[in-house]
Amino acid sequence: MLEQRYSPNTIRAEIESGAARWIKLLVNGELGGFASYGADGARRAVKLDKLYVHRLFRGRGCGTALVRHVEQAADVQGCDKVYLQVNRNNFDSISAYRHLGFEVVDRIRTGIGSGFYMDDYVMAKSVRREP
Ligand SMILES: CC(C)(COP(=O)(O)OP(=O)(O)OC[C@H]1O[C@@H](n2cnc3c(N)ncnc32)[C@H](O)[C@@H]1OP(=O)(O)O)[C@@H](O)C(=O)NCCC(=O)NCCS
Repeated sequence: MLEQRYSPNTIRAEIESGAARWIKLLVNGELGGFASYGADGARRAVKLDKLYVHRLFRGRGCGTALVRHVEQAADVQGCDKVYLQVNRNNFDSISAYRHLGFEVVDRIRTGIGSGFYMDDYVMAKSVRREP
């Protein structure tokens, strides 16, 4: 699954079709982290699809910077919220997302074959500015 979701061909196709934007964060010229996100017009929302900060750079505000960028993009596109899916056992990331203002709004269990499931929380955050 990882190979499929992160293959250069998949990423190139997402960028070229406009289905997703990929952003990278450089720390002193080194790749510190990345995120991908895309508009979900039906929900007037932006889905933060992937977020990863290199282990060496965690706890220093990189995740915050990437999430802020996505929130601003959502606001510019006239969306009301940013949402994401995170594995229910990914406790560190869930804590980080709570610190960043996200709340659990749903739980999704998806069968991935052979009796295995992805068991995710949906977390969301409003990005609308007060008029
Ligand atoms: C989740 C992740 C992106 C956070 O990135 P980061 O650069 O460490 O985050 P920041 O330093 O900007 O911290 C953001 C906030 O979360 C808090 N936080 C970060 N890691 C935390 C942890 N392990 N436990 C509790 N809180 C945490 C910080 O204190 C900060 O809150 P504050 O502003 O109130 O102080 C990073 O840990 C990561 O890449 N994890 C692995 C990949 C992953 O699981 N991605 C999510 C898939 S959905």
